[in-house]
Amino acid sequence: MASRQPLVGGNWKMNTASSEADALAGAVASFQPGACQIAIFPPFVYLDRVAAALRTAGSTTLVGAQDLDHRDNGALTGQVSASMLLDLGIQTVLTGHSERRHVIGDSDELVGLKTARALDAGMMCLLCIGETLEQREAGETDAVNERQLRAGLKNVQASTLGNLVVAYEPVWAIGTGQTASPDDAQNAHAAIRGVLRSITDDATADATRILYGGSVKPSNANELFAMPDIDGGLIGGASLNADDFAAICTAASDSATTATTTAQTH
Ligand code: 13P
Repeated sequence: MASRQPLVGGNWKMNTASSEADALAGAVASFQPGACQIAIFPPFVYLDRVAAALRTAGSTTLVGAQDLDHRDNGALTGQVSASMLLDLGIQTVLTGHSERRHVIGDSDELVGLKTARALDAGMMCLLCIGETLEQREAGETDAVNERQLRAGLKNVQASTLGNLVVAYEPVWAIGTGQTASPDDAQNAHAAIRGVLRSITDDATADATRILYGGSVKPSNANELFAMPDIDGGLIGGASLNADDFAAICTAASDSATTATTTAQTH
């Protein structure tokens, strides 16, 4: 099986003032990432200053945007294009976050256009998928994930899939304090990898990182990241607390070290 470097993303959502963004960026810049890759997703208006702070500090942490428009520059009031992000050196982006789908109204089709645009532009794209509580209770978790994944990847060129990350974020677990059990999350991740295998090929499916998101905390990160198909996390609330976010990144780094040691002794 391909070894996948764990990734932990901190999605700040529509939080922080500039002073708080500066303080958080400063704290993240001092993290020791170990085996883990770290990305943070500040609000658009703070991207430039956060990216500059991390660059100045020599940090390897990626700075990404929470969304993008699928079209290029033009008469689209309020929108932000891939070329604008790249102009700031921002090469990472989220698409399909549940709040964009369910609060703001991004459709499966729109998420597909945005994902293709991000990947075509050479960006790393974290495509977020996940079921609502109602869908979970109806036993539709895997079907919803498959539908959102297929629609998200509909326009994507195979040659760009190396920059794809999938984030499974069950909507009922986001910001609620309720986390999927490690076994439930693992089952969903394994099914998602199976869909990737059927859309792409074995090598791509095995190499693609699938992150779990939804009330990840220092107290549950270790057991989630120990699961074979969970390759890190996308963190909301806990990413606004530097100590909690650092502990979650350490848990992801430790999971990679443990996996390597286990592989060597077998
Ligand atoms: P919480 O960690 O606050 O549940 O949010 C998860 C999330 O939506 C990350 O994108």
